[in-house]
Amino acid sequence: MLIKVPKVSSAAESEVTPEAVYLSRRSVLAALAAGSLSGALALPARADERFADVPSPESVPPFLESRLAAVPAVELPSGEEVTPFFDATHYNNFYEFGSSKQDPSRHAGELVTDPWSVEIDGEVARPGRYSLEDLLSQVTLQERIYRLRCVEGWSMVIPWIGFPLAELIRRVEPSGHARYLQFETLVRREQMRGVRSELGLIAWPYIEGLRLDEAMHPLTILAVGMYGRSLPNQNGAPLRLVVPWKYGFKSIKSIIRISFVRDRPATTWQTMAPEEYGFYANVNPAVSHPRWSQARERRLPNSLFKPNVRPTQLFNGYAEEVASLYSGIDLRRDY
Ligand code: MTE
Repeated sequence: MLIKVPKVSSAAESEVTPEAVYLSRRSVLAALAAGSLSGALALPARADERFADVPSPESVPPFLESRLAAVPAVELPSGEEVTPFFDATHYNNFYEFGSSKQDPSRHAGELVTDPWSVEIDGEVARPGRYSLEDLLSQVTLQERIYRLRCVEGWSMVIPWIGFPLAELIRRVEPSGHARYLQFETLVRREQMRGVRSELGLIAWPYIEGLRLDEAMHPLTILAVGMYGRSLPNQNGAPLRLVVPWKYGFKSIKSIIRISFVRDRPATTWQTMAPEEYGFYANVNPAVSHPRWSQARERRLPNSLFKPNVRPTQLFNGYAEEVASLYSGIDLRRDY
């Protein structure tokens, strides 16, 4: 991210799944879950082909697969198109697996994500190590179709499956001293090529943070799936944060620890380059990155012939929902 010139996405027309195919799979899954179709009915072969290039979800536990299949599909936000699955899973940032956009899809399959647990500590009444199954046991999974805007200038539209982070926060009962949440990604050298790299890409573990009220906001989710199935490893399996009004680097992947803390956490990108990456990192067309403008963005997939450039929206188009979180704060200075 620090040294990147954004590249053009390279999905060929033949690799892109038409939205109708994606949506038809969703309705079949929903019908199966509702019991209105025979369990023996195979999914349409064309729909399965959509996932052919994604590392096999071998380590996805059965409890998660069945929960995902029960999630009803939601309406697309008007004027948006879902980014093809191929682009969302082959143009990634996940430095633990390398620094190129293709490294995560090539190498993240090496990560074993089952069993998985998350340590919850700090200013809470119910700290502890929660298994993924336990974390999901008290929530209803939902689909959320959100825009994702990277600070590098590209964007996508992703149908996530997850649950509001607020539900977990209420469950662990933060004390009156908890003002921020600090999130931490797994570091497993033997399964993470980027962590092993001699280049010293970033200081591990990857750390992100939110103010408690940002974390409690109904738009903030913990995702366990996308496109009707479990999260591919390159997208942050088995559990990642999604904060749609902020630049993508806030949406930390493969979370193993959530700490409730009193002070603003020292986050990875802000620590590395504070003048380039702020703590809030709210999408804002009026605040340029020191090396490029944020006024416009490239919606993937795009090409030199079809650049697909559009104006960046304040708070990534979610201003109505979130602007009040920042009243009284000068987001040009505290970006
Ligand atoms: N989380 C971890 N642990 N490591 C990373 O390198 N990259 C971030 C974010 N979460 C990153 C991470 C950045 S810069 C972006 S834009 C998004 O993940 C990209 O998510 P995607 O690959 O699912 O599109």
